[in-house]
Amino acid sequence: MPEIVVHNTEELADMRKACQLARDVLLYIEEYVTEGISTAELDALCYTYIIEHGGESATLNYNGFPKSICTSVNHVICHGIPGPYKLKSGDIINIDITVILDGWHGDTSKTFLVGKCSKLAEELVKTAERALFIGIEAVKPFGYFGDIGLAIQRFVSNTGFSIVQDYGGHGIGKIFHADPTVLHYNCREKREQILPGMFFTIEPMINVGSHKSKVLNDGWTVVTIDKSLSAQFEHTLAVTDHSVEILTL
Ligand code: MF3
Ligand code: CO
Ligand code: CO
Repeated sequence: MPEIVVHNTEELADMRKACQLARDVLLYIEEYVTEGISTAELDALCYTYIIEHGGESATLNYNGFPKSICTSVNHVICHGIPGPYKLKSGDIINIDITVILDGWHGDTSKTFLVGKCSKLAEELVKTAERALFIGIEAVKPFGYFGDIGLAIQRFVSNTGFSIVQDYGGHGIGKIFHADPTVLHYNCREKREQILPGMFFTIEPMINVGSHKSKVLNDGWTVVTIDKSLSAQFEHTLAVTDHSVEILTL
């Protein structure tokens, strides 16, 4: 069984600040997410914002990741590397921000619609956001991590879209990716118990077509094998004595 860290109220106060910075970066970048901007420009803006607010990017140099944010466009599921690609009308782009502030990690992402998108893209993005909130509602102190994936799968299976299984949410805090892995599908196990003081993310990735993924030759970019669209939303959560707090809201 994995060791899942339980944090105290002082640690929660520090974690809140890191998560609020991550949320602020996402709010800040939103107005720049328009046709014609490159993903590298979005990265540079976020980098500067994070530094100017006393934080650092958790993704820059993380296991060799070269940039400060992840930008995952259209059929890219996650871990897209910012570069020269310029957004065009009809694209969807997930921007995933992870910052470190005073040693604590805040991790959040959102999928944006660029210009005029297809009904299918709009539906997918709405479904991914709902899937995240349905997962959050399934979090109960003294419940189980398996409740989260079960709730998300019950919802998504009625939409015709699929849930990525190769990547999950994760414990977070002083460490970026800690135990447990938070599955977004039903694995038919209750898994570990959810306890007050635990910090973790929920970040469902939802595809139009196949749930299967592959990693491109750059070693990072995760794409759908059938090139179908993929959308994702993520929040960092803290379990409290009687409820759950969305730290990146
Ligand atoms: N922020 C991603 C997550 O939600 C992880 C990105 S790691 C990177 O867990 F190296 F790809 F940036
Ligand atoms: Co995460
Ligand atoms: Co993230």
